[in-house]
Formats: sequence, structure tokens, C-alpha cells
Amino acid sequence: MSETKPTLTQTIEEAARHPKNLGEMESADAVGTVGRSDCGDMLRMWVKFKEEAGRKVIDRASFQTFGCQTAIAVASVATEMIRGKTAAEALSLSGEQLSAPLGPLPPMKIHCAQLVEDALRSALDPVASQPSSVHPVPSGPTLVDHVTPSNKVKITFLTKPVS
Ligand code: FES
Repeated sequence: MSETKPTLTQTIEEAARHPKNLGEMESADAVGTVGRSDCGDMLRMWVKFKEEAGRKVIDRASFQTFGCQTAIAVASVATEMIRGKTAAEALSLSGEQLSAPLGPLPPMKIHCAQLVEDALRSALDPVASQPSSVHPVPSGPTLVDHVTPSNKVKITFLTKPVS
């Protein structure tokens, strides 16, 4: 009996239900936070480097987001994908490449992958120019610091920080 291939929606839901690398990283070497004015979502990414065979490569990355399921799913697979890459190699990846393990995203969800790409870019190359729809957000201890009671956002608190 052949197995039915999961739909893109099912793949995203599954990745968002069990995200990898979710949470703050206290010992991070780089942090980037961006927000999108069109949908109001925010994403912060932490990156830790290590030396490997004479190269400075990404040891691990983690994220927090006030974002949709697709942003969570893309951030989950992207933080896995960039492990072992140099900053330049990670910066060369597009949102489409970062989301590729999930499958091709529909046009209305491409900006969700772009949010992840921009957070990575903000962490690894903070002085690079950002698209006008993306706003770098000053880093604070947690992403919650940027939310005031007047913001109408749903906050899902995380378990424990990534060490
Ligand atoms: Fe805003 Fe997905 S709808 S990141």
C-alpha cells in the first residue's frame, strides 16, 4: 500500500507544531530582529559560531517569533539548514532556499519565508540594507520586550531558553 504524501499545509502544520531550535539563546554571538509592517509579524534569530577546520561556522541558531505557522515552520527548518555554514554561506540563502524542505510556498506565504531570511540577515549582516517592508527592531533581552499591552498580538510563551 503506498503512503499518501502530506500536503504543504500538513507539512507546515507539523513543523510548526514541533519546531526545532525555538527559544532564546543566552550565549549567542549574533542576534537579529525584524518585523513586517504588512502583516505585523516579528521574528528574532540568535546565532552561535564555532571554529571548524579553520573556518568560523554556525554551530547553532534559534528563534522566537510573533508570526504565523509558516514563519515558525520556515524558521525551524532554516535554523537546521544553516548549521555548519559560514556567515557568508548562510547569507547567500534566499527565503525560497531556506523554506525548500517544506516544499514550494504559495505566493501569499512567500513573505513569511522572507521574514526568516531578513532576521538571519539582520543577525549576520546588520548594516546591510533592508527592504522597506521590513523593519529592524533593536535587540532587547527577549522579543516580549517589544510588545506593549496596546499591541493586539497573541503571545505564546516558550518553555525554556536554548543553552
Ligand atoms: Fe506574516 Fe506569515 S503572515 S509572517
